[in-house]
Amino acid sequence: MAGLTSSTIGRKYAMALSAMFLLIFLIMHLTVNFLSVLGPDAFNTASDFMGYNPLIQFIMQPVLGFAVIFHFVMGFILEIRNRNARPTKYAVNNGAANSTWTSRNMIISGLVVLAFLGLHMYDFWWHEINFKYIERNEVDNLRYWGELHERFANPVRVIFYIIAFILLGLHLAHGFQSSFQSVGARHPKYTPVIKAIGKWYSILIPAGFIIIAVYHYITQ
Ligand code: HEM
Repeated sequence: MAGLTSSTIGRKYAMALSAMFLLIFLIMHLTVNFLSVLGPDAFNTASDFMGYNPLIQFIMQPVLGFAVIFHFVMGFILEIRNRNARPTKYAVNNGAANSTWTSRNMIISGLVVLAFLGLHMYDFWWHEINFKYIERNEVDNLRYWGELHERFANPVRVIFYIIAFILLGLHLAHGFQSSFQSVGARHPKYTPVIKAIGKWYSILIPAGFIIIAVYHYITQ
């Protein structure tokens, strides 16, 4: 691990691996949350299983937490190093002439997603920790859907979530294909396919999250 993070190429590689892990997480997260649009039963069953399964709680969740923190810390380190290495970056990188807004502003879209995650962890993750381990409430496997539904009663929260999902989409629009490039998956035949999948991924995943938030808001 130390070897992987001690050179710029190693850091980009490690960053890409953490990104790929998070790309898979987002598909799983969206799938489970989408159950809440279909009705309380399936969502309550899935949430209860995940909330009390030791493999998910004590192995998958800490791995996910590590991947999220690693991705953000590494992103900052790479950004600072890039800035320091290229004091005349505007001469080299002439804005829209040779790169997209999304690729030049990954740090901005990343920071909005980070701010969203702060609120999101408070809304859901911290609530769970508090319910189970601090207040030590009795198991109630019918509570999850109602708790989620209640969070989306506040229009300010819904708007902030939607803005964050749009920025997440912009982050993914560049990040998806960039993560494949960083691990060396470059090929004249496959790169256009990866880019096309990345484009659809970056539209459909945030759109799915937006639908969930809006659904719960309008069905209050
Ligand atoms: C409408 C959209 C979303 C809903 C309804 C939602 C719902 C939830 C819920 C219910 C939990 C608690 C899981 C638990 O600990 O029991 C959770 C956790 C989490 N969410 Fe979301 N989420 C949404 C969007 C997102 C997005 C876009 C991201 C990433 C950018 C994200 C990242 C996370 C993470 C990292 C956790 C903590 C891990 C975990 O507890 O499993 N969520 N979310």
